[in-house]
Amino acid sequence: MMIDAIPQELQQRLDKFNQQHLVTHWKDLSSEQCSRLMAELESIDFAEIQQALATKAASTSAETPASRAARCQPPSQLIRLADLEQDAEKRQQTEKAGLKMLRDGKVGVILVAGGQGTRLGFDHPKGMFPIGPVSDHTVFQILFEQVIARSQQAGAAIPYFIMTSDATHDETVAFFEEHDYFGMNADDVTLFKQGTMPAIDAETGKVLMSAPNAIAKSPDGHGGMLQALHKSGAFARMVDAGLEALFYHQVDNPSVIVCDPILLGCHQIYESEITTKVVAKMSAEERMGVLVEVDEQMEIIEYSDLPSDVASATDDSGNLRIWAGNTAIHVFSVAFLKRLHDAGIDLPFHLANKKVPYIDADGQLVEPAKPNGIKFERFIFDVLPQATKALVFEADRDREFNPVKNAEGNDSPETAKAALIRTARNWLESAGAIVAGKVPVEISPLFALDIADVKEKIEPGRMFAEPTYLR
Ligand code: UTP
Repeated sequence: MMIDAIPQELQQRLDKFNQQHLVTHWKDLSSEQCSRLMAELESIDFAEIQQALATKAASTSAETPASRAARCQPPSQLIRLADLEQDAEKRQQTEKAGLKMLRDGKVGVILVAGGQGTRLGFDHPKGMFPIGPVSDHTVFQILFEQVIARSQQAGAAIPYFIMTSDATHDETVAFFEEHDYFGMNADDVTLFKQGTMPAIDAETGKVLMSAPNAIAKSPDGHGGMLQALHKSGAFARMVDAGLEALFYHQVDNPSVIVCDPILLGCHQIYESEITTKVVAKMSAEERMGVLVEVDEQMEIIEYSDLPSDVASATDDSGNLRIWAGNTAIHVFSVAFLKRLHDAGIDLPFHLANKKVPYIDADGQLVEPAKPNGIKFERFIFDVLPQATKALVFEADRDREFNPVKNAEGNDSPETAKAALIRTARNWLESAGAIVAGKVPVEISPLFALDIADVKEKIEPGRMFAEPTYLR
């Protein structure tokens, strides 16, 4: 059926929010294209966008992020790496508790993989990036193998919940199927898609269009996970499965220790609602969110909101006072996430100025040279202040935090590959093996999850003179 007139109700909504330009090209569209545009427009919550803009304006006048940051303190509920390393008994006790949680089937894993990965500039979902320094295996494969190995170690299935977005979903599903879920039981894998948010013109507040019948949209941030878990039914699945804790990680860090039993054990023993792994910042200038307490509440401050005098302040020993860099590795209690949902808590939107290609009034595509649009994203760490009990756990940076963010330089494939080699080399040498010169070595999680596994499998004195992948 031909749709020749703009439905009255739609026109009224557009008038109300001053977004009439969204139907400029209506007359030039086929009825199919009109239907698609209508569906898109119906899915947009204009009031929510308006409110996000208003909240942002209000917060700048009340208290700036910088003035808030000026009151921040280092986290107090804290486990420092050096303390744990010296306390063998505590290590053993927490590890045992974590392994028991896994064995009892109380732990699920969440991977957020819906980001667009613009900085990396890879033409596929980031998880498909070949990061294995010898094997060339993808980030997805390395992460899946960790879950498989950990579940073999625990003797129980560990369900894997993977968040995708419109930008990554179809390719991710096809990739998993093509690779037979990397050997994992497909029934233990749940994919759920996050929502999207339209981008707006930074000057006029008008929603940008990517085509005459399409809105310029992007994923709504990793914090979109909260809504997406409920909307998709994944959360109900977690509850039905009797899960109590969720190990959360991001697709860009292949050296994360998925379901680290020590972290899980600490989370349980301290009765924490959210436990976060942090690493010591390398310098005051490092562009990394920091975990702090403000007015006795735990929160993460983005690097761009941390004034340089606060960032560079040192303690009596000369160490950075605000030192705890966020790795985006968390453990959430299922009960905590349920409480947030039941209380109807929505995470705030963060607004970012970005270059957003759009079509102009003549229907021509414009590729802006500088940021022209505002994108709206929710951040998962904004749940932190809601926790009645939160714990911070310091990780070994070299071993566990090597994200792939940029195409080159810091936090790039090169640094992540070097880290995987470094860990494999350390483990082999600790087991008494000899790794020649600069020979690259790589260990699949299916071969070993830690040094102890390597020691069981590698004879002291074994020589590695050629690039080697152990699996
Ligand atoms: P980043 O903040 O690094 O964003 O995501 P990104 O989209 O991957 O990369 P850039 O900024 O465009 O270069 C951190 C983690 O959060 C996930 C990403 O997939 C990554 O695991 N993420 C991010 C989502 O799942 N959804 C989003 O909307 C944004």
